[in-house]
Amino acid sequence: MDKAKRAAVIAGNWKMNKTPAEAKALIEEMKPLVADAKCDVVLCVPYVDIPAATEAAAGSNIKIGAENVHFKASGAYTGEVSADMLKAVGVEYVIIGHSERRQYFGETDQTVNLRTKAALDAGLKVILCVGETLEQRELGYTEALLEYQTKIALTGVTAEQLKNVIIAYEPVWAIGTGVTATDEQADEGNGFVRNAVAAAYGADVAETVTIQYGGSMNAKNAEGLLSKVNVDGGLIGGASLKAADFSVIVKAASK
Ligand code: 13P
Repeated sequence: MDKAKRAAVIAGNWKMNKTPAEAKALIEEMKPLVADAKCDVVLCVPYVDIPAATEAAAGSNIKIGAENVHFKASGAYTGEVSADMLKAVGVEYVIIGHSERRQYFGETDQTVNLRTKAALDAGLKVILCVGETLEQRELGYTEALLEYQTKIALTGVTAEQLKNVIIAYEPVWAIGTGVTATDEQADEGNGFVRNAVAAAYGADVAETVTIQYGGSMNAKNAEGLLSKVNVDGGLIGGASLKAADFSVIVKAASK
């Protein structure tokens, strides 16, 4: 397994935090701290923050992402936003299938697949989230579940399109709980995801796919997690809301 074949990507997921003015201030604070990063740096922000975020990030190495996207191009879908709309305001990445969308907003593996295909067709890069609950882990279903979620989400996605997909392994029990997966658990989970990609696209392709870990990654534990062969980056919630902490994680991924 050769990590050098894969781009290291550190992405923040701000979730439902920050007004546009606060977004601008946080990005201005982050810019000098991550300017010499040797990994890709992405901030996924609430829809209303996107114009302020793209303006603040312009000319820097920070790329802006959204936290969700609808699968239809337009129409009577109150409250939703299409991939073309995101592209039109300068968004480059989009998180799809986050466990909070699955848990609270009825997201299914099928709609994750539809959203993924729509985002890729529009030219967005996808950060596809998969992960097991504590109950599923304790029942011994982690590997099977990660394989299932990964395969369904990528159904109909070509090997060429897969170049624009990052997968984030986010164990649900580690998100926002302060309980981080151990370095070994993160590596194992990411390995299960890579095996699922290999089964669908072949081992050579799977070796090139960036697989992040997410779930209480922070300034203290990032280096250990990122040292693992299957952990190619991080999807960061809470710690992405603090410039100093986020930049320490970016530095850990730049080594
Ligand atoms: P925390 O880093 O706050 O645990 O959130 C992780 C996450 O859900 C990123 O998408």
